[in-house]
Amino acid sequence: MDRKVNRRNFLQKLTGGSIVAMSLPILKTSVFASSKKADLPLILCSRGEQWGKKVNQPGWKILSQGGNILDAVEKSANVTELDPEDSSVGYGGTPNENGVVELDASIMYGPTHNCGSVASLRNIKTPSSVARLVMERTDHMMLVGQGALKFALMHGFKKENLLTEKARISWLKWKENLSERDDYFPPKHGNYKPTERKTGTINVLSINSDGDIAGITTTSGLSYKIPGRVGDSPIIGAGLYVDNNVGAAGATGRGEEVIRTCGSFYVVEKMSQGLSPQKACEAACKKIIDVNGGIENIKKSGLNDKFVAVNKKGEVGCASIRGSKKSPPQLSYMNRTGFHVYDGTVLIEN
Ligand code: GLY
Repeated sequence: MDRKVNRRNFLQKLTGGSIVAMSLPILKTSVFASSKKADLPLILCSRGEQWGKKVNQPGWKILSQGGNILDAVEKSANVTELDPEDSSVGYGGTPNENGVVELDASIMYGPTHNCGSVASLRNIKTPSSVARLVMERTDHMMLVGQGALKFALMHGFKKENLLTEKARISWLKWKENLSERDDYFPPKHGNYKPTERKTGTINVLSINSDGDIAGITTTSGLSYKIPGRVGDSPIIGAGLYVDNNVGAAGATGRGEEVIRTCGSFYVVEKMSQGLSPQKACEAACKKIIDVNGGIENIKKSGLNDKFVAVNKKGEVGCASIRGSKKSPPQLSYMNRTGFHVYDGTVLIEN
């Protein structure tokens, strides 16, 4: 059987979509309780109020006018990718140990159970858009490094410098403060202090009014990583997973832990067994705690991971391994009732 031809026909059939126009005011509300039933369509991102408003808005506009769900998640993911103020995704992301920005991203489309991803992609500001093209315009699922770049250029993406001044300075500071015994000194020699390494990322998940589901995860990955290191974000089942009959999940935080527990797949599987999105996210956090030998080891390691999820009914959930109840992990979403910020739970209090 020719998978290419069949897949192409199948995709064309399924991405046609019916158009139901909706125009709605954006209201600000907060949800502090457990998962809440939402009115579809819905788009969510793994950030709170400040980024949530900016990120969800373009996707919501597309969805609420009956547009294509893949356009919706892509346009929303592009917001952080293109914003140099975000230091963990796309343009402006923190670089690898050599000062080069390398991006990872994935996309998954529920109706076809199809996906695409890119890893260690340099010089392209919107890796999630390239991941979408891998899904829609190739018979492959993942392209990496030079191959991914070549593919992006072939499709008309512009080769650009992704290292902003802010990111270059933070990288230099990290390098100069790494060790007292190497050849690099910070401006005032002797001012040695270890620098935090970040793993920010963003997940965008959505359900349209037909109940179809799609998602994107995009990141610049672990800051100052070894060149070529690939995190969880472009790995389907780790940083992102969608099952059109069940729901979707995405992960942020230390990717290695999410990879070795198949984190997002685990969340969706738990939902398929009847758990709410909230309980399923907590179960995935607990799994990471368990494989690390328990709470004390997690505290010593300093690692953290967060999951967000939505089920077929539009109920949402969010949990992180560590954090404080005063400043809980959050997601935000837009649906027919407005803009909502959802407070998740923390398994281990700081
Ligand atoms: N979760 C992002 C990364 O570890 O690369």
